Amino acid sequence: MTRLRLGILISGRGSNMVALVEAAQAADYPAEPVLVLSNQPHADGLNLARARGIEAIAVDHRPFSGDRAAHERALDDHLQARGVDVIALAGYMRVLTPWFVRRWQGRMVNIHPSLLPKYPGLNTHARAIEAGETEAGCSVHWVSDGVDTGEVIAQARIPIRPGDTAAALAQRLLPAEHRLYPEALRRACARIRAGNGQTD
Ligand code: GAR
Repeated sequence: MTRLRLGILISGRGSNMVALVEAAQAADYPAEPVLVLSNQPHADGLNLARARGIEAIAVDHRPFSGDRAAHERALDDHLQARGVDVIALAGYMRVLTPWFVRRWQGRMVNIHPSLLPKYPGLNTHARAIEAGETEAGCSVHWVSDGVDTGEVIAQARIPIRPGDTAAALAQRLLPAEHRLYPEALRRACARIRAGNGQTD
Protein backbone atom coordinates (compact mmCIF):
# COMPACT_ATOMS: atom_id res chain seq x y z
CA MET A 1 0.00 0.00 0.00
CA THR A 2 1.35 3.43 -0.91
CA ARG A 3 1.15 5.66 2.11
CA LEU A 4 -0.36 9.13 1.94
CA ARG A 5 2.22 11.86 2.38
CA LEU A 6 1.45 13.71 5.60
CA GLY A 7 2.22 17.35 6.40
CA ILE A 8 1.83 18.43 10.02
CA LEU A 9 1.31 22.08 11.02
CA ILE A 10 2.29 23.14 14.53
CA SER A 11 2.80 26.32 16.53
CA GLY A 12 4.50 25.09 19.69
CA ARG A 13 5.21 22.07 21.83
CA GLY A 14 4.38 19.49 19.20
CA SER A 15 3.33 16.59 21.42
CA ASN A 16 0.44 15.64 19.12
CA MET A 17 2.80 15.83 16.15
CA VAL A 18 5.13 13.39 17.95
CA ALA A 19 2.20 11.06 18.62
CA LEU A 20 1.40 11.03 14.89
CA VAL A 21 5.03 10.52 13.90
CA GLU A 22 5.39 7.63 16.33
CA ALA A 23 2.15 5.99 15.22
CA ALA A 24 3.32 6.26 11.61
CA GLN A 25 6.25 4.00 12.41
CA ALA A 26 3.83 1.05 12.27
CA ALA A 27 4.23 -0.73 8.95
CA ASP A 28 0.49 -0.64 8.29
CA TYR A 29 -0.02 3.04 9.13
CA PRO A 30 -1.67 4.73 6.11
CA ALA A 31 0.29 8.01 6.26
CA GLU A 32 3.97 8.88 6.18
CA PRO A 33 5.02 12.18 7.80
CA VAL A 34 7.17 14.05 5.28
CA LEU A 35 7.09 17.62 6.54
CA VAL A 36 6.44 19.60 9.72
CA LEU A 37 5.74 23.32 9.35
CA SER A 38 5.55 25.88 12.14
CA ASN A 39 4.53 29.52 12.06
CA GLN A 40 6.62 29.99 15.22
CA PRO A 41 10.38 29.83 14.53
CA HIS A 42 11.17 28.74 18.08
CA ALA A 43 8.49 26.07 18.40
CA ASP A 44 9.87 23.14 20.41
CA GLY A 45 8.15 20.77 18.01
CA LEU A 46 10.54 21.67 15.18
CA ASN A 47 13.47 20.04 16.93
CA LEU A 48 11.36 17.12 18.10
CA ALA A 49 10.47 16.45 14.46
CA ARG A 50 14.07 16.79 13.25
CA ALA A 51 15.26 14.43 15.99
CA ARG A 52 12.88 11.87 14.48
CA GLY A 53 14.22 12.37 10.98
CA ILE A 54 11.36 14.51 9.70
CA GLU A 55 12.07 17.66 7.73
CA ALA A 56 10.85 20.63 9.78
CA ILE A 57 10.62 24.20 8.54
CA ALA A 58 9.57 27.43 10.24
CA VAL A 59 7.60 29.89 8.14
CA ASP A 60 7.29 32.83 10.52
CA HIS A 61 4.02 34.67 9.97
CA ARG A 62 5.39 38.00 11.24
CA PRO A 63 7.32 39.12 8.13
CA PHE A 64 4.08 38.77 6.16
CA SER A 65 2.78 41.66 8.28
CA GLY A 66 -0.89 40.91 8.36
CA ASP A 67 -1.08 39.33 4.90
CA ARG A 68 -2.45 36.01 6.08
CA ALA A 69 -2.99 34.70 2.56
CA ALA A 70 0.64 35.38 1.56
CA HIS A 71 1.85 33.45 4.61
CA GLU A 72 -0.39 30.55 3.68
CA ARG A 73 0.81 30.59 0.07
CA ALA A 74 4.33 30.16 1.46
CA LEU A 75 3.15 27.22 3.57
CA ASP A 76 1.34 25.79 0.58
CA ASP A 77 4.47 26.05 -1.60
CA HIS A 78 6.36 23.86 0.88
CA LEU A 79 3.49 21.39 1.07
CA GLN A 80 3.20 21.15 -2.72
CA ALA A 81 6.96 20.81 -3.14
CA ARG A 82 6.96 17.75 -0.84
CA GLY A 83 3.93 16.21 -2.56
CA VAL A 84 1.82 16.33 0.60
CA ASP A 85 -1.53 14.51 0.29
CA VAL A 86 -3.03 15.15 3.72
CA ILE A 87 -2.53 17.79 6.43
CA ALA A 88 -2.87 17.30 10.18
CA LEU A 89 -3.13 20.49 12.22
CA ALA A 90 -1.54 19.71 15.59
CA GLY A 91 -1.70 22.72 17.86
CA TYR A 92 -1.55 25.11 14.90
CA MET A 93 -2.84 28.27 16.51
CA ARG A 94 -3.70 30.46 13.53
CA VAL A 95 -7.09 30.67 11.88
CA LEU A 96 -6.74 29.62 8.25
CA THR A 97 -8.14 31.66 5.36
CA PRO A 98 -10.98 30.30 3.23
CA TRP A 99 -8.48 30.03 0.37
CA PHE A 100 -6.26 27.58 2.23
CA VAL A 101 -9.21 25.69 3.71
CA ARG A 102 -10.82 25.19 0.30
CA ARG A 103 -7.52 24.19 -1.26
CA TRP A 104 -7.15 21.38 1.27
CA GLN A 105 -10.83 20.61 1.77
CA GLY A 106 -11.35 16.94 2.44
CA ARG A 107 -7.63 16.46 2.98
CA MET A 108 -7.05 18.43 6.23
CA VAL A 109 -7.92 17.48 9.82
CA ASN A 110 -7.49 19.20 13.18
CA ILE A 111 -7.45 18.22 16.84
CA HIS A 112 -9.33 20.49 19.21
CA PRO A 113 -9.41 20.15 23.01
CA SER A 114 -13.17 20.12 23.53
CA LEU A 115 -16.17 17.97 22.79
CA LEU A 116 -17.22 19.81 19.65
CA PRO A 117 -19.59 21.38 18.84
CA LYS A 118 -19.14 22.62 22.40
CA TYR A 119 -16.43 25.22 23.04
CA PRO A 120 -14.84 25.96 19.68
CA GLY A 121 -12.04 28.55 19.70
CA LEU A 122 -9.78 29.41 22.60
CA ASN A 123 -9.86 28.80 26.39
CA THR A 124 -11.97 25.69 26.00
CA HIS A 125 -11.22 24.17 29.41
CA ALA A 126 -11.82 27.36 31.37
CA ARG A 127 -15.16 27.78 29.64
CA ALA A 128 -16.17 24.15 30.24
CA ILE A 129 -15.33 24.41 33.95
CA GLU A 130 -17.08 27.76 34.24
CA ALA A 131 -20.20 26.27 32.65
CA GLY A 132 -20.27 23.47 35.24
CA GLU A 133 -19.62 20.69 32.73
CA THR A 134 -18.87 17.28 34.22
CA GLU A 135 -16.85 16.02 31.29
CA ALA A 136 -14.28 17.39 28.90
CA GLY A 137 -12.61 15.87 25.90
CA CYS A 138 -11.03 16.30 22.53
CA SER A 139 -12.25 16.06 18.96
CA VAL A 140 -10.55 15.33 15.67
CA HIS A 141 -12.49 16.90 12.82
CA TRP A 142 -12.28 17.76 9.16
CA VAL A 143 -11.32 21.38 8.67
CA SER A 144 -13.94 23.50 6.95
CA ASP A 145 -14.69 27.22 6.77
CA GLY A 146 -15.36 28.47 10.28
CA VAL A 147 -13.41 27.88 13.47
CA ASP A 148 -13.59 24.25 14.64
CA THR A 149 -16.82 23.60 12.77
CA GLY A 150 -16.05 20.71 10.39
CA GLU A 151 -17.48 17.21 10.66
CA VAL A 152 -16.19 15.32 13.71
CA ILE A 153 -14.24 12.14 12.95
CA ALA A 154 -13.64 10.91 16.51
CA GLN A 155 -13.78 12.09 20.13
CA ALA A 156 -12.40 11.04 23.50
CA ARG A 157 -13.90 12.00 26.87
CA ILE A 158 -12.52 12.47 30.37
CA PRO A 159 -14.33 13.51 33.57
CA ILE A 160 -13.97 17.01 34.99
CA ARG A 161 -13.16 16.64 38.68
CA PRO A 162 -14.22 19.03 41.45
CA GLY A 163 -11.55 21.70 41.83
CA ASP A 164 -10.09 21.09 38.36
CA THR A 165 -8.25 24.02 36.83
CA ALA A 166 -7.96 24.63 33.10
CA ALA A 167 -4.26 23.76 33.26
CA ALA A 168 -4.86 20.51 35.16
CA LEU A 169 -7.57 19.50 32.74
CA ALA A 170 -5.43 20.26 29.70
CA GLN A 171 -2.62 18.18 31.17
CA ARG A 172 -4.89 15.24 31.97
CA LEU A 173 -6.49 15.35 28.54
CA LEU A 174 -3.22 15.24 26.64
CA PRO A 175 -2.66 11.44 26.75
CA ALA A 176 -6.20 11.00 25.40
CA GLU A 177 -5.34 13.37 22.54
CA HIS A 178 -2.23 11.37 21.77
CA ARG A 179 -4.25 8.14 21.55
CA LEU A 180 -7.13 9.68 19.61
CA TYR A 181 -5.28 11.58 16.90
CA PRO A 182 -3.40 8.71 15.24
CA GLU A 183 -6.55 6.57 15.19
CA ALA A 184 -8.71 9.39 13.81
CA LEU A 185 -6.12 10.20 11.15
CA ARG A 186 -6.15 6.55 10.17
CA ARG A 187 -9.91 6.82 9.59
CA ALA A 188 -9.48 10.10 7.69
CA CYS A 189 -6.90 8.50 5.40
CA ALA A 190 -9.31 5.66 4.66
CA ARG A 191 -11.95 8.22 3.67
CA ILE A 192 -9.47 10.10 1.47
CA ARG A 193 -8.40 6.87 -0.23
CA ALA A 194 -12.02 5.96 -0.82
CA GLY A 195 -12.49 9.38 -2.40
CA ASN A 196 -14.93 10.64 0.18
CA GLY A 197 -13.04 12.94 2.51
CA GLN A 198 -15.35 15.68 3.73
CA THR A 199 -16.24 17.87 0.76
CA ASP A 200 -18.42 20.66 2.11
C1 GAR B 1 -3.35 20.49 22.15
O1 GAR B 1 -3.99 20.37 23.38
C2 GAR B 1 -4.37 20.73 21.05
O2 GAR B 1 -5.56 20.02 21.24
C3 GAR B 1 -4.58 22.21 21.16
O3 GAR B 1 -3.32 22.76 21.43
C4 GAR B 1 -2.54 21.79 22.10
C5 GAR B 1 -1.25 21.62 21.33
O4 GAR B 1 -0.36 20.82 22.03
N1 GAR B 1 -5.13 22.75 19.96
C6 GAR B 1 -5.91 23.81 19.93
O5 GAR B 1 -6.22 24.44 20.92
C7 GAR B 1 -6.38 24.21 18.54
N2 GAR B 1 -7.42 25.17 18.63
P1 GAR B 1 0.86 20.14 21.29
O6 GAR B 1 1.59 21.25 20.54
O7 GAR B 1 1.69 19.55 22.38
O8 GAR B 1 0.30 19.11 20.36
